[in-house]
Amino acid sequence: MTAELDEDALVPLRVTVNGRAQALACGGGETLLTLLRERLGLTGAKRGCNQGLCGACTVLLDGQPVRACLTVAATCADRRVETAEGLLRGARLSPVQQALVDGGAVQCGFCTPGMTMALTALLRAEPRPDAARVREALSGHLCRCTGYVKIVEAALAAAEAQAQKGADGAAAGDADARAEGAAP
Ligand code: FES
Ligand code: FES
Repeated sequence: MTAELDEDALVPLRVTVNGRAQALACGGGETLLTLLRERLGLTGAKRGCNQGLCGACTVLLDGQPVRACLTVAATCADRRVETAEGLLRGARLSPVQQALVDGGAVQCGFCTPGMTMALTALLRAEPRPDAARVREALSGHLCRCTGYVKIVEAALAAAEAQAQKGADGAAAGDADARAEGAAP
């Protein structure tokens, strides 16, 4: 006799979402997208095609972009999930989010959270990507509104802003060190 998998049976799941440890129960066949949107109320990840084609549901799993609509929630046990909500610092947008807004790269906004997560992962791994690398990171992310140009420009602007912030921080650190060295 073969035991049949009951996809509706709830299984316990411990997972860290946006830095917060969660002890949940999920269906055996439930996707990460359903878990996020319907159990945790995190609706940043969007349900577009629900088939892995549009990228709107992209989140980070242990820092890597994944399609939440194709990821079985139970496989996320003891792993780290990040969503667009987790990039906010209070009311402050992340550098990528801010650059997308400032660059006019958000129109209807449906694709934006998925694009944001893909770009966040890219800039963490490669702080100064060129336009070709940005396009590569966004391949498989569909946008019906923007024509992509502004999104790529915004990604490059975010990288530039990040580099500038790093340079300013380093310069401030040097100035502090000089001031400390000059103190009697
Ligand atoms: S909703 Fe997941 S890729 Fe489209
Ligand atoms: S801004 Fe509308 S789908 Fe991209």
